[in-house]
Amino acid sequence: MKLVDHWQRQIRKLRVSLTDRCNLRCRYCMPLHPNFMDKHSYLTPDEYVDIIQELLTYGIEEIRITGGEPLVRPEFSEIMLKLSMLSIPQLSLTTNGILLHQYWEILKKCNVTKINISLDSLQPKTFASITYRNSLSRILENIRQAVAQGFDIKINVVLMRGINDCELFDFIEYAQKLSVTVRFLELMQIGYANELYDHHFISAQECINQLQTRYRMNRINSVSDSTAFYFELDSGVKVGFIASESQPFCNSCSRWRLSADGRLFACLFIEKGISIRNISSETRHHIYEQLLGMKPIQRSAHVLRAMYGIGG
Ligand code: 5AD
Ligand code: SF4
Repeated sequence: MKLVDHWQRQIRKLRVSLTDRCNLRCRYCMPLHPNFMDKHSYLTPDEYVDIIQELLTYGIEEIRITGGEPLVRPEFSEIMLKLSMLSIPQLSLTTNGILLHQYWEILKKCNVTKINISLDSLQPKTFASITYRNSLSRILENIRQAVAQGFDIKINVVLMRGINDCELFDFIEYAQKLSVTVRFLELMQIGYANELYDHHFISAQECINQLQTRYRMNRINSVSDSTAFYFELDSGVKVGFIASESQPFCNSCSRWRLSADGRLFACLFIEKGISIRNISSETRHHIYEQLLGMKPIQRSAHVLRAMYGIGG
């Protein structure tokens, strides 16, 4: 059976959270002293394998490992090595980049080629004011190493008015210098970001208008269930936008999410996940059917659930 819903959306992609913990404290994502899950409630490496192996038979083709910050999970290597035995068509990673230098070999061994790295500022002070940590130089060095080692890197920037929007052009130059793709994400009304939204939201269109004052932006095609749309500048640099607020992509969404404690979510904007641990595959089958019916066709206005518990 394929996971196709009433609106002909096929679930092909799964975001898999390895932990809700993180070595940053991005203001829009978590508080300084978060209530993390009990570590004992995390899925074990073998549970990840069982769940994902089963979902592959339902047509899942792409697994993106996320967090919190997935590299802080002590069993990261074990989980990745086990997953890489499953012949997943595409296994990729989203990370804040701080610990990447410890994992180049594992990532290569597991055939992970695509890595999305979150980076909201190139200025040490602004970086620290967003993340409450001083990890910028480590991240920049790791991005440099990642590119040198041949990984396909996308930099994700959550652009916020009055905080880092003045770095729009700096990010383009940075991406050009390193030959990486840069993507600007609209701040989404989720969890702690709700507090920042009114003052700091900036739309993708506004960024595009600004960029067009300096660059010719040629729209390029992306796959139909991509969350991002892309432009290529004359210099060859690719610039993407994820406009979840102003241009939601629910009607073509192909994603489910698995939290670190084993709950499946049909959508980022649904509070309720369903646990799929310790139950028979028959019961899970019914849960999958139930989840297909839980995926909204329209973006809900906002959600209170914190982002770090489910991953981006
Ligand atoms: N709005 C937009 N992006 C967010 N992320 C986390 N919270 C939000 C939010 N409220 C991003 C992170 C990271 C990705 C996993 O999700 O910055 O790039
Ligand atoms: Fe950590 Fe990502 Fe949340 Fe920032 S956005 S605190 S890097 S999980």
